[in-house]
Amino acid sequence: MTFPKIIVTGGLGYIGSHTCVELIHSGYEVIIADNLSNADISVLDGIHSITGIKPRFIQVDLSDSDSTLTFFNGFKDIAGIIHFAAFKAVGKSVQFPLKYYKNNVGSMINIVYNMLELGISNLIFSSSCTVYGQPDQLPVSESSPIQAAWSPYGNTKQICEEILNDVCSSQNRFNGIALRYFNPIGAHESALIGELPLGTPNNLMPFITQTAIGLRSELKVFGSDYNTPDGTAIRDYLHVVDLAKAHVTALERLLKKENTSNNEFYNLGTGKGSSVLEVIQSFEKTSGTSLNYVMAERRPGDVEAVYADTTKAKEILGWETELSLDDMTRSAWKWEQALKARS
Ligand code: UD1
Repeated sequence: MTFPKIIVTGGLGYIGSHTCVELIHSGYEVIIADNLSNADISVLDGIHSITGIKPRFIQVDLSDSDSTLTFFNGFKDIAGIIHFAAFKAVGKSVQFPLKYYKNNVGSMINIVYNMLELGISNLIFSSSCTVYGQPDQLPVSESSPIQAAWSPYGNTKQICEEILNDVCSSQNRFNGIALRYFNPIGAHESALIGELPLGTPNNLMPFITQTAIGLRSELKVFGSDYNTPDGTAIRDYLHVVDLAKAHVTALERLLKKENTSNNEFYNLGTGKGSSVLEVIQSFEKTSGTSLNYVMAERRPGDVEAVYADTTKAKEILGWETELSLDDMTRSAWKWEQALKARS
């Protein structure tokens, strides 16, 4: 029996690796393309241990057009591509904008170009709620206007969505779905894969777990004077395993030709906003530890509150989250402890 082959770019990264696991569980043959710039090869063993299958892995820089061409020429019968490979540090993108444009936009162009050449027609693109900026209305639905990006990173997501949109308009056989993630956190329940930030984490959850395990002295809560019930900023945190499953759902929509437009986009979140303090409280409860944190200045570029209107994802995609904030913080802590035990 042959299984549909799916290429996962950035498949050794945080969301990519969890998606590979869900794809394999759903019967797909996964081929991972990753340049290892922000991922560790040991993640492949994690995927293997969870699923019993070691996916084929190819180290390739997809922002290089020759390497991408060579990579694609190695394959036949690819049913679809899930494209995660991208840089994601907002601050670094401000410092090194060209690096971000070259990598994130360049790889998107190379991938879509080769897909068109080879007649591969299904692409799931990893986008972000950052495209909405600080929305005028909450919860934020897909009809909310896209706002001017606050960072080169955010701009690369917008540009890649535009590229997808333009290609879909010009090629009606090409199908794309952009998934706009809110804030993925947590780890696989096995604690065999999870988030592996390089250096000091920028994001809240890894900073919390690294502080609790003793790698950081304290967590700074960025801003306690926001116009929110407890003064701290609000985000829509979702479990990375729920998010991974959404990719399988979206892919199947394309493979079964159930899409009603050849360019669709969905918000992926829980629909519920949680403040920074609520995340900390959940973490303290599920980990049984007391976190060392202090209130600090707002972080430049942060929005006050953003959470998803999940109606479209529920009604059209048929996906919704199943796991709670406590599941997220519990699994993130289990992962951090597993990492410590490994070292
Ligand atoms: C950030 C990016 C977003 C990107 C996402 C990818 C910004 C402005 N936004 O989302 O574009 O798609 O990461 O992962 O960087 N916080 C603290 N202390 C910390 C770290 C974070 O209080 O040490 C707070 C932040 O101020 C924010 C919340 O925690 O209110 C979540 O922050 P983070 O995890 O960095 O995610 P976003 O900023 O929402």
